[in-house]
Amino acid sequence: MNAVRIGLLGLGTVGGGTLELLARNGDEIARRAGRPIRVTHASVRDAGRPRGPQAANVQLLADPFELVHHPQIDIVAELIGGIEPARALVLAAINAGKHVVTANKALIAHHGNEIFEAARRAGVAVGFEAAVAGGIPIIKTLREGLAGNRIQGLAGIINGTSNYILTQMRDAGLDFATALADAQRLGYAEADPSFDIDGVDAAHKLSILAAIAFGMPLCFDQVHVEGIRGLSAMDVDYAGQLGYRLKLLGIARRTERGVQLRVHPTLLPQRHLLAQVDGVINAVLVDSDALGQSLYYGAGAGAGPTASAVVADLIDIARALTIDPEHRVPYLAFHHDRLQALPILPIDAVETAFYLRLTALDRPGVLADVTRILADQHISIEAILQKEPPPGESHVAVILLTHTVRERAVREAIARIEALPSIDGRVVSLRLDHLEH
Ligand code: NDP
Ligand code: HSE
Repeated sequence: MNAVRIGLLGLGTVGGGTLELLARNGDEIARRAGRPIRVTHASVRDAGRPRGPQAANVQLLADPFELVHHPQIDIVAELIGGIEPARALVLAAINAGKHVVTANKALIAHHGNEIFEAARRAGVAVGFEAAVAGGIPIIKTLREGLAGNRIQGLAGIINGTSNYILTQMRDAGLDFATALADAQRLGYAEADPSFDIDGVDAAHKLSILAAIAFGMPLCFDQVHVEGIRGLSAMDVDYAGQLGYRLKLLGIARRTERGVQLRVHPTLLPQRHLLAQVDGVINAVLVDSDALGQSLYYGAGAGAGPTASAVVADLIDIARALTIDPEHRVPYLAFHHDRLQALPILPIDAVETAFYLRLTALDRPGVLADVTRILADQHISIEAILQKEPPPGESHVAVILLTHTVRERAVREAIARIEALPSIDGRVVSLRLDHLEH
């Protein structure tokens, strides 16, 4: 049978990894797909840079738009990243009748609704498995493996760079900047690494997972986002002393009042499986009614793992080339005319437990003032840790763990606590979750 011809936009970490994987496992891939899958053309920014032996038989095109319109290309793989020109190239490829595979979560999170509508009209497939959790086949799992379930929620470590940084800070004592530089050198970080450390990349991925899990249109703008940039080593340490680990989590949960969509550092009990996920590894915990809780674990970034997901999409499309478009697996798992816009809960209305750290004057009655404010807001305390003040210091660190409480009540209590003359500076607040529902 004729080979399926691939045009690669980008030959960086992911594009290079994809080319290498298709060459290395070409025979097995052809046996799985029913026909060979060959990269025939590619387009890069710097055509002068050497691309390695695998690229020897690939024709480099200076203009990426020439590639997406090329009559001898069946599938375009967009592995450039960013919004433009990626968006224009993907839409041009779709309108030229090409199937598309992309690893670009920013593009899908922001423009997925538009891209899927264009693809549906053109009758072409769009694969984006590599856009979420690197090599873990989480999109296929949600879309197909769990298709019989009602999915109640999911929680994931879905940014490899920030998990790598948190792990290196905790285990190797690296400072934030050194750990980030390592993640960049290893090819994990985004072109703009603030996307990784400020939670934006995780929010892109969470919005994609939530749309597929709950059957709703993509709504990145409604995700509450906090990153790891402001975390202090002191809080990582205190969390450990209280039996918790800090992880950057993406959480999507259905509640009776609306859908929670949030990315933020979270204290997890040390024994929770997600708390054990270290380094660049990602993991997604899914809560569904028939299966119960299930956990998906694997490398969340890097050339090989991401190429694994890109190539799986290429094989899926190669297998389905002759299928009537209406009978392909829907892009967002649910049929396009059955997606439902669900209300998203504002963060103020979300209920979680909290870790609070305050710097208080070491004097009788101070803690009583703090606990009175918490009681006024109906916030019940689960644990208190008070550290010895360093010699000669008048202030002491006090850490409080609360029971589950509505966010608005905690914010009001924090404002009142910070106004007490006996409290120095800001109260550090981190959410705490046992992920039991
Ligand atoms: P890289 O920066 O390593 O590679 C980007 C590639 O795109 C380079 O080959 C670059 O060319 C090429 N390129 C950039 N602009 C253009 C343009 N205008 N026209 C043609 N080619 C262009 O990025 P990654 O491979 O890391 O990431 C690619 C995508 O995969 C991104 O969307 C990213 O978010 C996603 N992703 C990345 C993962 C990772 O671990 N790195 C994991 C999962 C997803 P040149 O080589 O000449 O500079
Ligand atoms: N920068 C991303 C991460 C790449 O660190 O998870 C994988 O999507």
